Amino acid sequence: MPTFRTLDDLDLAGKRVLLRVDMNVPMRDGAITDTARIEKIIPTITEILSNGAGIVLASHLGRPKGQAVPEFSLEPLAPVLGSLLPDREVIFSADGSHQAAPGEIVLLENLRFNPGEEGNDPAFAKSLAAHGDIYVDDAFSCAHRAHASIDGVARLLPAAAGRLMQQELDALNNALENPAHPVAALVGGNKISTKLGVLENLITKVDHLIVGGAMANTFLYAGGVAVGKSLCEEEMADTARDIVAKASDAGCTIHLPVDAVVAAGLEEGIASETVAIDAVPEDQMILDVGPETAAQITSLLEGCKTLVWNGPLGAFEFKPFDDGTNAAALAAAKLTEAGALLSVAGGGDTMAAMENAGVTETFSYISSAGGAFLEWLEGKTLPGIAVLMEK
Ligand code: 3PG
Repeated sequence: MPTFRTLDDLDLAGKRVLLRVDMNVPMRDGAITDTARIEKIIPTITEILSNGAGIVLASHLGRPKGQAVPEFSLEPLAPVLGSLLPDREVIFSADGSHQAAPGEIVLLENLRFNPGEEGNDPAFAKSLAAHGDIYVDDAFSCAHRAHASIDGVARLLPAAAGRLMQQELDALNNALENPAHPVAALVGGNKISTKLGVLENLITKVDHLIVGGAMANTFLYAGGVAVGKSLCEEEMADTARDIVAKASDAGCTIHLPVDAVVAAGLEEGIASETVAIDAVPEDQMILDVGPETAAQITSLLEGCKTLVWNGPLGAFEFKPFDDGTNAAALAAAKLTEAGALLSVAGGGDTMAAMENAGVTETFSYISSAGGAFLEWLEGKTLPGIAVLMEK
Protein backbone atom coordinates (compact mmCIF):
# COMPACT_ATOMS: atom_id res chain seq x y z
CA MET A 1 0.00 0.00 0.00
CA PRO A 2 1.37 3.48 -0.79
CA THR A 3 2.11 5.33 2.39
CA PHE A 4 1.32 8.75 3.77
CA ARG A 5 2.92 10.86 6.45
CA THR A 6 1.46 10.90 9.95
CA LEU A 7 2.02 12.96 13.10
CA ASP A 8 5.00 10.67 13.81
CA ASP A 9 6.86 12.25 10.88
CA LEU A 10 6.38 15.87 11.94
CA ASP A 11 8.44 18.18 14.11
CA LEU A 12 5.62 20.11 15.76
CA ALA A 13 7.33 22.16 18.47
CA GLY A 14 6.60 25.86 18.09
CA LYS A 15 4.72 25.34 14.80
CA ARG A 16 1.23 26.39 13.73
CA VAL A 17 -0.78 23.44 12.44
CA LEU A 18 -3.66 24.00 10.05
CA LEU A 19 -5.90 21.05 10.95
CA ARG A 20 -8.74 20.08 8.57
CA VAL A 21 -11.44 18.33 10.56
CA ASP A 22 -15.04 17.35 9.86
CA MET A 23 -17.27 19.29 12.25
CA ASN A 24 -20.22 18.81 9.93
CA VAL A 25 -22.39 17.64 12.82
CA PRO A 26 -26.17 17.24 12.87
CA MET A 27 -27.90 20.28 14.40
CA ARG A 28 -31.50 21.07 15.37
CA ASP A 29 -32.66 24.57 16.38
CA GLY A 30 -29.06 25.74 16.74
CA ALA A 31 -28.05 22.85 19.03
CA ILE A 32 -25.80 19.92 18.15
CA THR A 33 -27.69 16.64 18.31
CA ASP A 34 -24.68 14.30 18.04
CA THR A 35 -21.10 15.16 19.02
CA ALA A 36 -19.54 11.87 17.82
CA ARG A 37 -17.57 13.56 15.03
CA ILE A 38 -16.15 16.15 17.41
CA GLU A 39 -15.16 13.51 19.96
CA LYS A 40 -13.24 11.60 17.31
CA ILE A 41 -10.85 14.49 16.55
CA ILE A 42 -9.85 15.04 20.21
CA PRO A 43 -6.86 12.61 20.19
CA THR A 44 -5.26 14.43 17.23
CA ILE A 45 -5.83 17.86 18.80
CA THR A 46 -4.44 16.76 22.17
CA GLU A 47 -1.36 15.16 20.61
CA ILE A 48 -0.52 18.21 18.48
CA LEU A 49 -0.89 20.56 21.45
CA SER A 50 1.19 18.35 23.73
CA ASN A 51 3.98 18.51 21.15
CA GLY A 52 4.16 22.28 21.56
CA ALA A 53 2.23 23.46 18.50
CA GLY A 54 -0.75 25.77 18.08
CA ILE A 55 -3.78 24.65 16.05
CA VAL A 56 -5.99 26.42 13.53
CA LEU A 57 -9.06 24.26 12.94
CA ALA A 58 -10.78 24.38 9.56
CA SER A 59 -14.10 22.71 8.78
CA HIS A 60 -17.29 23.06 6.82
CA LEU A 61 -20.84 22.75 8.17
CA GLY A 62 -23.76 22.01 5.90
CA ARG A 63 -23.98 23.23 2.32
CA PRO A 64 -24.20 27.05 2.40
CA LYS A 65 -22.98 27.22 -1.23
CA GLY A 66 -20.43 30.01 -0.94
CA GLN A 67 -22.70 32.33 1.10
CA ALA A 68 -22.33 33.41 4.74
CA VAL A 69 -25.51 31.74 6.05
CA PRO A 70 -25.77 32.41 9.83
CA GLU A 71 -27.41 29.06 10.66
CA PHE A 72 -24.30 27.33 9.31
CA SER A 73 -21.82 29.35 11.39
CA LEU A 74 -19.25 27.27 13.26
CA GLU A 75 -19.28 29.71 16.19
CA PRO A 76 -21.62 27.60 18.42
CA LEU A 77 -19.26 24.66 18.02
CA ALA A 78 -16.30 26.41 19.68
CA PRO A 79 -17.62 26.01 23.29
CA VAL A 80 -18.76 22.46 22.55
CA LEU A 81 -15.26 21.52 21.42
CA GLY A 82 -13.82 23.44 24.38
CA SER A 83 -15.95 21.41 26.81
CA LEU A 84 -14.32 18.24 25.47
CA LEU A 85 -10.83 19.68 26.04
CA PRO A 86 -10.44 20.34 29.77
CA ASP A 87 -8.42 23.50 30.58
CA ARG A 88 -8.43 24.67 26.97
CA GLU A 89 -10.27 27.52 25.36
CA VAL A 90 -11.26 27.35 21.71
CA ILE A 91 -10.94 30.81 20.15
CA PHE A 92 -13.44 31.40 17.37
CA SER A 93 -11.97 33.70 14.74
CA ALA A 94 -14.65 34.75 12.26
CA ASP A 95 -12.26 36.74 10.08
CA GLY A 96 -9.32 34.36 10.55
CA SER A 97 -7.12 37.15 11.89
CA HIS A 98 -6.16 35.41 15.15
CA GLN A 99 -2.80 33.64 14.77
CA ALA A 100 -2.48 30.47 16.88
CA ALA A 101 0.32 30.64 19.45
CA PRO A 102 1.74 27.35 20.81
CA GLY A 103 -0.92 25.66 22.94
CA GLU A 104 -3.76 27.74 21.45
CA ILE A 105 -6.72 26.40 19.45
CA VAL A 106 -8.32 28.72 16.93
CA LEU A 107 -11.49 27.77 15.04
CA LEU A 108 -12.07 29.38 11.64
CA GLU A 109 -15.52 30.20 10.27
CA ASN A 110 -17.28 27.70 7.97
CA LEU A 111 -15.00 27.17 4.96
CA ARG A 112 -17.99 26.89 2.63
CA PHE A 113 -18.98 30.50 3.28
CA ASN A 114 -16.28 31.22 0.69
CA PRO A 115 -17.00 29.97 -2.87
CA GLY A 116 -13.26 29.34 -3.23
CA GLU A 117 -13.54 26.32 -0.92
CA GLU A 118 -15.70 24.11 -3.14
CA GLY A 119 -14.12 25.60 -6.27
CA ASN A 120 -10.64 24.56 -5.03
CA ASP A 121 -9.59 28.12 -5.83
CA PRO A 122 -5.78 28.53 -5.59
CA ALA A 123 -6.12 31.99 -4.02
CA PHE A 124 -8.40 30.64 -1.27
CA ALA A 125 -6.04 27.67 -0.73
CA LYS A 126 -3.19 30.18 -0.37
CA SER A 127 -5.11 32.20 2.20
CA LEU A 128 -5.76 29.00 4.18
CA ALA A 129 -2.11 27.96 3.94
CA ALA A 130 -1.15 31.28 5.57
CA HIS A 131 -2.70 29.99 8.82
CA GLY A 132 -0.16 27.20 9.27
CA ASP A 133 3.41 26.00 8.88
CA ILE A 134 2.10 22.45 8.52
CA TYR A 135 -1.16 20.98 7.21
CA VAL A 136 -2.75 17.97 8.91
CA ASP A 137 -5.85 16.33 7.47
CA ASP A 138 -8.04 14.46 9.96
CA ALA A 139 -11.21 14.49 7.88
CA PHE A 140 -11.52 11.16 6.05
CA SER A 141 -15.25 11.81 5.78
CA CYS A 142 -14.48 14.79 3.49
CA ALA A 143 -11.75 13.05 1.47
CA HIS A 144 -14.08 12.57 -1.53
CA ARG A 145 -14.27 16.35 -2.00
CA ALA A 146 -11.47 18.00 -4.05
CA HIS A 147 -11.95 21.27 -2.18
CA ALA A 148 -9.37 23.95 -1.33
CA SER A 149 -9.03 22.87 2.32
CA ILE A 150 -8.50 19.25 1.29
CA ASP A 151 -6.62 19.34 -2.02
CA GLY A 152 -5.30 22.83 -2.77
CA VAL A 153 -3.83 23.60 0.64
CA ALA A 154 -2.24 20.15 0.98
CA ARG A 155 -0.10 21.01 -2.06
CA LEU A 156 1.17 24.24 -0.47
CA LEU A 157 2.33 23.03 2.95
CA PRO A 158 4.09 19.97 4.40
CA ALA A 159 1.09 17.62 4.76
CA ALA A 160 0.27 14.62 6.93
CA ALA A 161 -2.67 12.54 8.14
CA GLY A 162 -4.06 13.06 11.65
CA ARG A 163 -4.71 10.10 13.94
CA LEU A 164 -8.39 9.68 12.94
CA MET A 165 -7.52 9.72 9.23
CA GLN A 166 -4.66 7.29 9.90
CA GLN A 167 -6.93 4.92 11.86
CA GLU A 168 -9.57 5.06 9.15
CA LEU A 169 -7.10 4.39 6.32
CA ASP A 170 -5.53 1.49 8.22
CA ALA A 171 -8.95 -0.05 8.89
CA LEU A 172 -10.07 0.32 5.27
CA ASN A 173 -6.81 -1.07 3.96
CA ASN A 174 -7.08 -4.13 6.21
CA ALA A 175 -10.71 -4.64 5.23
CA LEU A 176 -10.59 -4.45 1.46
CA GLU A 177 -7.20 -3.63 -0.06
CA ASN A 178 -5.16 -6.16 1.85
CA PRO A 179 -7.63 -8.35 3.77
CA ALA A 180 -7.46 -11.79 5.33
CA HIS A 181 -9.75 -14.13 3.31
CA PRO A 182 -12.47 -15.27 3.22
CA VAL A 183 -13.94 -11.77 3.03
CA ALA A 184 -17.68 -11.10 3.31
CA ALA A 185 -19.37 -7.84 2.39
CA LEU A 186 -22.84 -7.13 3.73
CA VAL A 187 -24.69 -4.49 1.74
CA GLY A 188 -28.15 -3.30 2.66
CA GLY A 189 -30.26 -0.25 2.06
CA ASN A 190 -33.06 0.58 -0.29
CA LYS A 191 -31.82 0.80 -3.83
CA ILE A 192 -29.50 -1.03 -6.18
CA SER A 193 -29.45 2.10 -8.36
CA THR A 194 -27.67 4.18 -5.69
CA LYS A 195 -25.18 1.42 -4.83
CA LEU A 196 -24.40 0.04 -8.27
CA GLY A 197 -20.76 1.15 -8.11
CA VAL A 198 -20.43 -0.37 -4.64
CA LEU A 199 -21.87 -3.73 -5.71
CA GLU A 200 -19.80 -3.88 -8.91
CA ASN A 201 -16.56 -3.17 -7.06
CA LEU A 202 -17.27 -5.50 -4.14
CA ILE A 203 -17.99 -8.56 -6.29
CA THR A 204 -14.46 -8.29 -7.68
CA LYS A 205 -12.91 -8.14 -4.20
CA VAL A 206 -14.88 -10.26 -1.76
CA ASP A 207 -15.67 -13.97 -1.51
CA HIS A 208 -19.24 -13.51 -0.26
CA LEU A 209 -21.70 -10.70 -0.88
CA ILE A 210 -24.65 -10.73 1.50
CA VAL A 211 -27.46 -8.54 0.16
CA GLY A 212 -30.20 -7.26 2.46
CA GLY A 213 -32.58 -4.33 2.78
CA ALA A 214 -35.00 -3.45 0.02
CA MET A 215 -32.25 -3.84 -2.56
CA ALA A 216 -32.43 -7.60 -1.95
CA ASN A 217 -36.04 -7.44 -3.17
CA THR A 218 -34.84 -6.32 -6.58
CA PHE A 219 -32.42 -9.28 -6.77
CA LEU A 220 -35.21 -11.64 -5.64
CA TYR A 221 -37.63 -10.19 -8.21
CA ALA A 222 -34.96 -10.52 -10.91
CA GLY A 223 -34.68 -14.19 -9.97
CA GLY A 224 -38.43 -14.74 -10.35
CA VAL A 225 -39.51 -14.42 -6.69
CA ALA A 226 -42.81 -12.59 -6.04
CA VAL A 227 -42.15 -9.77 -3.54
CA GLY A 228 -45.74 -8.54 -2.99
CA LYS A 229 -45.97 -4.81 -2.17
CA SER A 230 -42.29 -4.57 -1.22
CA LEU A 231 -40.03 -1.73 -2.36
CA CYS A 232 -38.50 -3.05 -5.54
CA GLU A 233 -36.76 -1.47 -8.55
CA GLU A 234 -38.35 -3.61 -11.26
CA GLU A 235 -36.56 -1.59 -13.96
CA MET A 236 -33.23 -2.70 -12.45
CA ALA A 237 -33.93 -6.42 -12.87
CA ASP A 238 -31.55 -6.79 -15.85
CA THR A 239 -28.85 -4.96 -13.91
CA ALA A 240 -29.37 -7.27 -10.92
CA ARG A 241 -29.06 -10.35 -13.17
CA ASP A 242 -25.92 -8.86 -14.70
CA ILE A 243 -24.37 -8.38 -11.24
CA VAL A 244 -25.19 -12.00 -10.32
CA ALA A 245 -23.51 -13.23 -13.52
CA LYS A 246 -20.43 -11.04 -13.02
CA ALA A 247 -20.15 -12.15 -9.38
CA SER A 248 -20.19 -15.78 -10.43
CA ASP A 249 -17.42 -15.11 -13.01
CA ALA A 250 -15.38 -13.37 -10.29
CA GLY A 251 -15.80 -16.24 -7.80
CA CYS A 252 -18.01 -14.25 -5.46
CA THR A 253 -21.10 -15.93 -4.01
CA ILE A 254 -24.17 -13.71 -3.60
CA HIS A 255 -26.38 -14.54 -0.61
CA LEU A 256 -30.01 -13.42 -0.68
CA PRO A 257 -32.62 -13.74 2.10
CA VAL A 258 -34.30 -17.14 2.43
CA ASP A 259 -37.07 -15.83 4.67
CA ALA A 260 -38.55 -12.45 5.47
CA VAL A 261 -40.57 -10.52 8.03
CA VAL A 262 -43.56 -9.01 6.25
CA ALA A 263 -46.32 -6.54 7.18
CA ALA A 264 -49.06 -4.55 5.45
CA GLY A 265 -47.05 -1.32 5.78
CA LEU A 266 -44.11 0.36 7.47
CA GLU A 267 -45.30 1.38 10.94
CA GLU A 268 -43.92 0.87 14.43
CA GLY A 269 -45.70 -2.05 16.12
CA ILE A 270 -47.76 -3.07 13.05
CA ALA A 271 -48.74 -6.78 12.94
CA SER A 272 -46.02 -8.76 11.15
CA GLU A 273 -45.18 -12.37 10.38
CA THR A 274 -42.24 -14.40 9.15
CA VAL A 275 -42.64 -16.19 5.83
CA ALA A 276 -40.43 -18.22 3.51
CA ILE A 277 -39.05 -16.02 0.75
CA ASP A 278 -41.18 -17.76 -1.90
CA ALA A 279 -44.36 -17.17 0.13
CA VAL A 280 -44.57 -13.39 0.45
CA PRO A 281 -48.32 -12.53 0.34
CA GLU A 282 -49.38 -10.21 -2.50
CA ASP A 283 -50.66 -7.50 -0.10
CA GLN A 284 -47.63 -7.52 2.22
CA MET A 285 -44.20 -5.92 2.09
CA ILE A 286 -40.82 -7.29 3.15
CA LEU A 287 -39.47 -5.16 6.01
CA ASP A 288 -36.68 -7.32 7.39
CA VAL A 289 -34.82 -10.55 6.82
CA GLY A 290 -36.22 -13.49 8.78
CA PRO A 291 -34.52 -15.53 11.55
CA GLU A 292 -33.43 -18.30 9.17
CA THR A 293 -31.57 -15.74 7.02
CA ALA A 294 -29.99 -14.20 10.14
CA ALA A 295 -28.86 -17.69 11.24
CA GLN A 296 -27.36 -18.36 7.79
CA ILE A 297 -25.49 -15.04 7.90
CA THR A 298 -24.14 -15.93 11.34
CA SER A 299 -22.81 -19.30 10.19
CA LEU A 300 -21.35 -17.72 7.04
CA LEU A 301 -19.52 -15.12 9.14
CA GLU A 302 -18.17 -17.89 11.37
CA GLY A 303 -16.21 -19.10 8.33
CA CYS A 304 -14.94 -15.63 7.34
CA LYS A 305 -11.97 -13.60 8.54
CA THR A 306 -13.04 -10.14 7.32
CA LEU A 307 -16.39 -8.33 7.08
CA VAL A 308 -17.20 -5.02 5.41
CA TRP A 309 -20.69 -3.77 6.24
CA ASN A 310 -22.70 -1.00 4.63
CA GLY A 311 -26.43 -0.49 5.12
CA PRO A 312 -29.10 -2.17 7.27
CA LEU A 313 -30.76 -5.53 6.51
CA GLY A 314 -34.23 -4.22 7.25
CA ALA A 315 -36.23 -1.09 8.16
CA PHE A 316 -34.25 -0.85 11.42
CA GLU A 317 -35.73 2.51 12.47
CA PHE A 318 -39.04 0.73 13.14
CA LYS A 319 -39.19 -2.07 15.71
CA PRO A 320 -39.29 -5.06 15.32
CA PHE A 321 -37.81 -4.64 11.84
CA ASP A 322 -34.36 -4.08 13.35
CA ASP A 323 -34.16 -7.72 14.51
CA GLY A 324 -32.32 -9.05 11.45
CA THR A 325 -29.73 -6.22 11.45
CA ASN A 326 -29.25 -6.62 15.21
CA ALA A 327 -28.80 -10.40 15.02
CA ALA A 328 -26.19 -10.17 12.25
CA ALA A 329 -24.40 -7.24 13.93
CA LEU A 330 -24.27 -9.06 17.28
CA ALA A 331 -22.93 -12.20 15.59
CA ALA A 332 -20.19 -10.14 13.90
CA ALA A 333 -19.43 -8.37 17.20
CA LYS A 334 -19.08 -11.69 19.05
CA LEU A 335 -16.69 -13.07 16.42
CA THR A 336 -14.72 -9.82 16.53
CA GLU A 337 -14.43 -10.00 20.31
CA ALA A 338 -13.17 -13.56 20.00
CA GLY A 339 -10.45 -12.33 17.62
CA ALA A 340 -11.85 -14.40 14.73
CA LEU A 341 -13.16 -11.55 12.52
CA LEU A 342 -12.04 -8.09 11.44
CA SER A 343 -15.27 -6.10 11.15
CA VAL A 344 -15.47 -2.69 9.49
CA ALA A 345 -18.75 -0.82 8.99
CA GLY A 346 -19.62 2.58 7.62
CA GLY A 347 -21.48 4.76 5.15
CA GLY A 348 -24.89 6.43 5.26
CA ASP A 349 -27.11 5.30 8.11
CA THR A 350 -24.90 2.32 8.98
CA MET A 351 -23.53 4.00 12.09
CA ALA A 352 -27.06 4.58 13.38
CA ALA A 353 -27.93 0.92 12.70
CA MET A 354 -24.81 -0.22 14.57
CA GLU A 355 -25.62 2.10 17.48
CA ASN A 356 -29.12 0.64 17.59
CA ALA A 357 -27.60 -2.86 17.68
CA GLY A 358 -25.26 -1.80 20.50
CA VAL A 359 -22.08 -2.92 18.73
CA THR A 360 -20.20 0.35 18.23
CA GLU A 361 -17.62 -0.55 20.87
CA THR A 362 -17.16 -4.11 19.65
CA PHE A 363 -16.71 -3.83 15.89
CA SER A 364 -13.08 -3.48 14.82
CA TYR A 365 -13.89 -0.13 13.23
CA ILE A 366 -17.02 1.89 12.57
CA SER A 367 -16.51 4.80 10.24
CA SER A 368 -18.37 8.05 10.81
CA ALA A 369 -17.98 8.84 7.10
CA GLY A 370 -20.97 8.73 4.78
CA GLY A 371 -20.26 9.62 1.16
CA ALA A 372 -16.49 9.13 1.47
CA PHE A 373 -16.96 5.58 2.79
CA LEU A 374 -19.30 4.76 -0.11
CA GLU A 375 -16.90 6.15 -2.71
CA TRP A 376 -14.14 4.10 -1.14
CA LEU A 377 -16.40 1.00 -1.37
CA GLU A 378 -16.84 1.86 -5.05
CA GLY A 379 -13.07 1.63 -5.47
CA LYS A 380 -12.77 5.32 -6.39
CA THR A 381 -9.66 7.37 -5.77
CA LEU A 382 -10.49 9.89 -3.04
CA PRO A 383 -8.79 13.25 -3.76
CA GLY A 384 -8.04 13.86 -0.07
CA ILE A 385 -6.22 10.54 0.21
CA ALA A 386 -4.48 10.83 -3.16
CA VAL A 387 -2.93 14.18 -2.24
CA LEU A 388 -1.59 12.83 1.07
CA MET A 389 -0.07 9.84 -0.76
CA GLU A 390 1.57 12.11 -3.32
CA LYS A 391 3.26 14.25 -0.70
C1 3PG B 1 -20.29 14.32 5.36
O1 3PG B 1 -21.10 14.68 6.22
O2 3PG B 1 -20.40 13.23 4.76
C2 3PG B 1 -19.09 15.19 5.10
O3 3PG B 1 -18.98 16.19 6.05
C3 3PG B 1 -19.14 15.75 3.71
O4 3PG B 1 -20.23 16.62 3.56
P1 3PG B 1 -20.79 16.99 2.11
O5 3PG B 1 -21.48 15.77 1.58
O6 3PG B 1 -21.68 18.16 2.28
O7 3PG B 1 -19.57 17.30 1.24
